[in-house]
Order: sequence, then structure tokens, then C-alpha cells
Amino acid sequence: MDIRPFNFGTLAGEEHFCNRIIELQKLSSNFRMGINTTLVSARRWGKSSLVEMTAKHVIKKEKNIRFCYIDLFNTRSEQEFYVQMAQQLIKATSTKAEERIEAVKTFFRRLIPSIGISPDQQQEFTLSFSMKDLQRSPDEILDLAENIAKTKKTKIVVCIDEFQNIGYFTQALSFQKKLRSHWQKHKHASYCLYGSKKHMLMDIFGNVSMPFYRFGSFMFLEKIDARHWIPYIIHRFEKTGKKITEPLAKQISSLMENHPYHVQQLAQETWDVCGKFAKSTDIENAVTRLLRQMTILYQREVDLLSNMQVNFLKAVCSGVEKFSSNETLREFNLGSSANIKRVREALIEKEVIDINNDKPEFSDPLFKIWFWRIYMQRW
Ligand SMILES: Nc1ncnc2c1ncn2[C@@H]1O[C@H](COP(=O)(O)OP(=O)(O)OP(=O)(O)O)[C@@H](O)[C@H]1O
Ligand SMILES: [Mg+2]
Repeated sequence: MDIRPFNFGTLAGEEHFCNRIIELQKLSSNFRMGINTTLVSARRWGKSSLVEMTAKHVIKKEKNIRFCYIDLFNTRSEQEFYVQMAQQLIKATSTKAEERIEAVKTFFRRLIPSIGISPDQQQEFTLSFSMKDLQRSPDEILDLAENIAKTKKTKIVVCIDEFQNIGYFTQALSFQKKLRSHWQKHKHASYCLYGSKKHMLMDIFGNVSMPFYRFGSFMFLEKIDARHWIPYIIHRFEKTGKKITEPLAKQISSLMENHPYHVQQLAQETWDVCGKFAKSTDIENAVTRLLRQMTILYQREVDLLSNMQVNFLKAVCSGVEKFSSNETLREFNLGSSANIKRVREALIEKEVIDINNDKPEFSDPLFKIWFWRIYMQRW
């Protein structure tokens, strides 16, 4: 198989994994010591890749540890959550069909699930519960990780992605209280909670009045710095039979504002268009090609914005710093300064912008370029 120069859209594996050394060490040590972790960053900055990569490293060093992954991207109710958790924990801690059936018998006393197993007996494994039982006594599932870990004399790390979705459950607060009151007593199981809606997660983890406040060691994942991207890009070009100079590698990361997904994407596109030696015009062509691919989507994104929201984006693009100054309000037609707050919140909610170091930034650096060049017709 050909070596892929760059990777975007799927988790960054070993050869596409750039830096994150400090984060990897910290997370490994949390996993090994059973310290709960909450991990927050903006979309596509590399949370899932970091968690999986760390798990791989930990498993190499320590045999007696199991990882269970739960993704809540399509989970919208407490009951669905319990079912997922039960299924994934059994799957992660036993492999053969007979073992799984045995585990269900051992670990469920009050809740009696029915088991679904596919003919090939490997991948498919489902559990279904009576909804009434789940509502009445979910404790067996909430403590399942701890009970399995204790019985099997192992450690279990439960990694829950898109954790912010628990905020959508009815009675979200009492559910969170229930989770926390169980999980904080666990000694053999620990939890790594992360997700992509930064503002929702900050509400769950960073709000003193919420149950998950200070639940564990808090990590905020930053973008990857240019000083790590540059050697990575040069190395990947070399590995795959092409060459790129340091200034050009720097240009790729700076055009994409060091955004992990987009740096990989532009590097790949540049690699695709260039000959044996990448040139500056190749990067320009690559950007144009990407903009062309994205234009329908970006146009639709703008169509869904109000005039005021579009004006706010124009101000962001133009490098405005003081959004509520009279001059800005007038120049960009932004109404009153009270209005600015609402517009900002709405754009954050839509994930069009993100606040970094107190400054609004486009979440997608390519969209910013599109907005500036194509929409505002500036260069
Ligand atoms: N350490 C890394 N080195 C290089 N590229 C990375 C790294 N981490 C992430 N990426 C790039 O970013 C992309 C998104 O990574 P990942 O899916 O891990 O992010 P995420 O924060 O979990 O995203 P989402 O918010 O969509 O869940 C990857 O496909 C990869 O291209
Ligand atoms: Mg992810």
C-alpha cells in the first residue's frame, strides 16, 4: 500500500501524529494512575486522536489496563446512554461470545438484559433492557466499570467522546449528579470525558454549580504550534518522495492558522498539485482548489446567517479589536453594543466563530479565507 503523505478526517495515527508530547505524557499518567480527566478543545483540534494514541502507548507499557470507548454523538437520552455504556463495557472487557454472555450473567443481577449476538459472533453484540427497570435502577450500569475492573483485577479507563450531549437529556442536571456520585467512588475504573462543543463542555466542567465541576484533571488542548508543524510537513514530504522548503512548510501552517485538521488538508492538497519540489504557486493553487471544493457549503453557511452576523464576520476578518466601539459599530453596521453580545453568542452557538484569548476567531481558517476573498472580494 502507498504511504499516505498526510491525514485528515480520520484519527491521526502514529506516522501522522505531530507533537502533543506533553499532553500525551500527562494523559498517560492520568490513565495509569486512575485519575479522571476532562478534555476540552474546539472542533477538529485532535481530542479523539490524542486519547486513542495515548491509550495505544499505555497498553504497550502496561498489560493490565483496558480501554472502553463510548461515543455519544447520537445519544440523546439517559436510557440510550445506559445501553451504550453497558454494551461497550462488556465488549471492551471480554472478546468471545461465550465470555460476554458469562459476563452479563455475572454483572447483572437486578437488570436482566436480552442479548443479541451476530452469527459471526465477533463484532455485533447488543443488549436491551426494559425501560422501566433502567429508570428504576440504573446503578448496576453506573457501577459496571468498577465492578468488572475489581472482579477481573484490572484497571478500566472509560473514554466518553461528545460528552456534552448529556446536556441535551431531559433532567440533565439530576443525571449528572447521579453519574458523578457513582463515578467519584470508583477506584479501579476512571473516566476520560471529552467532546467538541467547547462552550457546552465549559458549562458542564467549568461551572461551580454543576456536578462535574472539578471532576478530574482538566486539560485544554491547544492547536499545534508552527514549530512542530514545519518539521512534520517537511518530513512527510520527504518520506513520500517529494521536497518542501522550510518557509513553504511554514506558509502552509500559517495560512491554516495551525489548525490541525486544516494544516493536514492543505499540506495534502499541496502535495497533490506539486511536482517533486513544492513551489509557492503550488500552495496558492492548492488553496484555490480547496476553496472551489468548499464554495457551495460555505455559501450555504453564509445564507443561514443574519445580516448582523455577516457584518460581525466582516469585522472579524478585517482585524477589528474593539467590537463595541462606536466607530466599529458604525463602520460595520452592527447596531448597539448590547446587540454585539447576542450576535457573538449566536455565532459561537453555530460554531462559526470561537473565542480564543478573548478574541473572536473563525473556527474554520479556510472559511475565513473564502469569506475574505470570495465573499468580501478582497485580497
Ligand atoms: N497530533 C496530531 N498531529 C497531526 N494531526 C492531527 C493531530 N491531531 C489531530 N490531527 C488532525 O486533525 C484531525 C481531527 O482530529 P480528531 O478527530 O482527533 O479531532 P477532534 O478534536 O476529536 O475532532 P471532533 O471535534 O470532530 O471530534 C485529524 O484527522 C488530523 O488530520
Ligand atoms: Mg473527536
